[in-house]
Amino acid sequence: MRSLLISKWTKVAVFLLCLIPFGELVWRIIKGELGANPVEFLQHATGDWTLRFLIFTLCITPFRKLFKLPDLIRFRRMLGLFAFFYVCLHFLTYLGPDQSFDLSSMWKDVAKRPFITVGFLGFVLLIPMAITSTAGWIRRLGGKRWQMLHRAIYVSAVAGVIHFYWLVKSDVRKPLFYGALVAILLLWRLGSWFSRRRSQAPVRVTVPSVSMNG
Ligand code: HEM
Repeated sequence: MRSLLISKWTKVAVFLLCLIPFGELVWRIIKGELGANPVEFLQHATGDWTLRFLIFTLCITPFRKLFKLPDLIRFRRMLGLFAFFYVCLHFLTYLGPDQSFDLSSMWKDVAKRPFITVGFLGFVLLIPMAITSTAGWIRRLGGKRWQMLHRAIYVSAVAGVIHFYWLVKSDVRKPLFYGALVAILLLWRLGSWFSRRRSQAPVRVTVPSVSMNG
């Protein structure tokens, strides 16, 4: 298993797999198979894939620990960057067809519609993470600070789930399903953080008090 995970071809294969949803969208655009409302179709597909890639990225650490596969770390950055790639497409499908690239009208909409505000927050949080995803930035920021910054991916995923929940009108099963996955991953992370803190806590030695009465 290890040789498979560290092979450069596996990385190429995962990269190509991550491009399949994009390829499918391009194919549908060329063939004109985007349904009755092409903009809505693109918004939904890119929004869905953003949330999925955020969840895939968040799965890496638990899977590394649970299945004892430390080399899975090689894929985390790529998956996170694909989440960013799909959210950029998602944002473009909004900024272009919905807002005609008019930034002032976009700001008004961000301020007016809560589901857009929350989605925008999720997007903005991903920008510094995408910029600082290189080894050079880890060195520049220092491991601790870099890790703190990259924990914002949880906030981004939660924002994505709330955004989705708020925008659906009736059937909330899908956002609730994504929400449950994000909650499980967040709880797992909090659990492992608390257990690590507890195991690192200084051992308190209680010195028996010397009684004056002997
Ligand atoms: C982390 C960031 C984001 C995530 C995870 C996300 C996710 C999603 C998801 C899952 C959907 C619904 C897909 C479906 O129905 O199957 C969606 C729809 C949508 N999103 Fe986002 N989104 C994000 C950011 C944004 C941003 C920044 C904007 C615009 C400023 C935006 C605008 C929209 C719009 C307009 C829709 C369609 C609404 C409708 O059909 O009425 N999203 N998004």
